[in-house]
Amino acid sequence: MTTFAGERPSGPKAEIYRELALMAKGLFDGESDAIANAANLSALLWMGLDRLNWAGFYFLRGPGLVLGPFQGRPACVRIELGKGVCGTAAAERRTVIVPDVEEFPGHIACDAASRSELVVPLIAGGALLGVLDLDSPDKARFDAEDAKGIETLAALWAAASGPV
Ligand code: SME
Repeated sequence: MTTFAGERPSGPKAEIYRELALMAKGLFDGESDAIANAANLSALLWMGLDRLNWAGFYFLRGPGLVLGPFQGRPACVRIELGKGVCGTAAAERRTVIVPDVEEFPGHIACDAASRSELVVPLIAGGALLGVLDLDSPDKARFDAEDAKGIETLAALWAAASGPV
């Protein structure tokens, strides 16, 4: 197993996400437990990316989303599909970038410090498994490059992991 002993990856975003993808592959190598891999990916994102106040998973459980492994402050446990940024990304199965959470109708304020947010749906074999959610205390923290990088990491997690 690869451990994350070094410095936070630096340089252009593309390079940071390339390094994080390599580290994620190392962490997932030979491990298919979805919760363990989600816990490690949350920790990797928390250590590897700057200006975050929350990073973690919500899993589809029956009709809604339920909190999974994360880093940051305690958060809302259940989110209805279609509600908030997470429920929107899940219901519409698309990545949602919110530059200013105050401008997103229905944003769910789990942590009052959050100013911008990026949510990527988790999809395996055509099935929705949940979402991966990143929050920042800075407005407009996330752009299309972050979305692409997090989508790649979410896909690595989905490919490595068995049932949630
Ligand atoms: N802000 C999210 C809720 C989850 S927390 O940010 C951890 C939302 O609107 O769905």
